[in-house]
Amino acid sequence: MRKILLTACTGIMLVATSQLVLSADGGPHDKAIQARQAMFKLYGYHMGILGGMAKGKIPYDAAIAAEASQNLDAAANLGQSTFWPAGSDNSNDENVKTRALKAIWDTYPEIVEKGEALTKATGVLAQNAGNGLDALKANMADVGAACKGCHDDYRAKKKK
Ligand code: HEC
Repeated sequence: MRKILLTACTGIMLVATSQLVLSADGGPHDKAIQARQAMFKLYGYHMGILGGMAKGKIPYDAAIAAEASQNLDAAANLGQSTFWPAGSDNSNDENVKTRALKAIWDTYPEIVEKGEALTKATGVLAQNAGNGLDALKANMADVGAACKGCHDDYRAKKKK
């Protein structure tokens, strides 16, 4: 009797463990999805600093503005050829949470233009953000427009 109970318990534990492993493992594109989301987090982090300074919520600091804009530009210029495997969009249930719309792949290479608009704007910002608050402000709008231009077409609204 004791032995049977033990066996039953072990069986339950095994099932529980394998379910844990399954959910931690996820789909075949999860690592690529998380890598691109990490890149976007870097974009967002630096835009928070730069936007905060431009709006007067954070005191302008030339060295920090220069560094943040150069980091943003570097992140925007990362090679992304392994970040967007086919099937890594938000219509595929095996993926981790992603907001990437299938339109990215259906209309490819149109999204490349959106990426180029961003690197063009971040390049100009990186040259100017350290040259005073006015120079920072003058070059933020193009960067913000490049972010929005891509999100409007290729990123799902919140949820999923
Ligand atoms: C070329 C298109 C494109 C451009 C340009 C772009 N984004 Fe995105 N962004 C996306 C897509 C698509 C996602 C959804 C990615 C996913 O969930 O797999 C995303 C997701 C994000 C996220 C959420 C990341 C997370 O944690 O899941 C942030 C923050 C973000 N973008 C900020 C920015 C900022 C700031 C800029 C401009 C400096 C920018 N993005 C420019 C397409 C773009």
